[in-house]
Amino acid sequence: MALSGLFLVLFLAQHFTINFTSVIAPDTFNELSHFMGTNFLVQAVLQPVLIFGVCFHFIMGFVLEIHNRKARAISYVKYNGSANSSWMSRNMIYSGAVILAFLALHFYDFWVPELVHKYVQSHPEDPTRYYEETIAKFESPVRTGLYVISFIFLMLHLLHGFASSFQSVGWNNKYSKGIQGFTKAFAIIIPLGFIFIAVFHYINNL
Ligand code: HEM
Repeated sequence: MALSGLFLVLFLAQHFTINFTSVIAPDTFNELSHFMGTNFLVQAVLQPVLIFGVCFHFIMGFVLEIHNRKARAISYVKYNGSANSSWMSRNMIYSGAVILAFLALHFYDFWVPELVHKYVQSHPEDPTRYYEETIAKFESPVRTGLYVISFIFLMLHLLHGFASSFQSVGWNNKYSKGIQGFTKAFAIIIPLGFIFIAVFHYINNL
């Protein structure tokens, strides 16, 4: 769980960086998107690894939850979870489920049309189409709202998940405090950044 989670965090960092260019430099966004969408290494190696990483993380998350529930078939008479654990850590399965639902919407929005564009319809290559296609998705207030809510759950998920992944892989040394600080900052700043991108394009579309 921890290793696949750390891998997905790396993906999030690059995904955020590329998407942020849609706010400050549309031409750069088009260039980067075209590169990612047509480069052989990205398409044939990185994309399948990413899809595997996403599926593995979600399936293992559900398996782990089932194991945890089975481990205590009879629940405590009195259980005060907040005494020694955070709300986020006790509800990773729910924040994860919201992110999974978001990914279904997100793939329907971006990935499916991209596959249709590339492999079903035969359009000539157009390296400048990505920016317009992306911002068009944020014309709808409902979709923008759903994205924003999902990014808040992403924040909650990362606040516990990113920090605890280092602990899970046994990284416990004099740098742990600094790493904890970095993971918390990342968990807050990246989802806020995604919210900013979605709201920016929504307002820009008005
Ligand atoms: C405002 C925020 C976001 C925007 C504008 C955005 C935009 C995009 C775009 C344009 C694609 C390309 C589809 C393609 O051409 O293949 C994509 C793919 C994807 N996005 Fe996002 N995204 C956002 C947030 C997120 C978040 C928060 C996650 C994860 C929780 C995510 C996960 C993915 C994944 C897994 C893919 C498929 C990657 C691939 O092409 O292999 N996205 N997104």
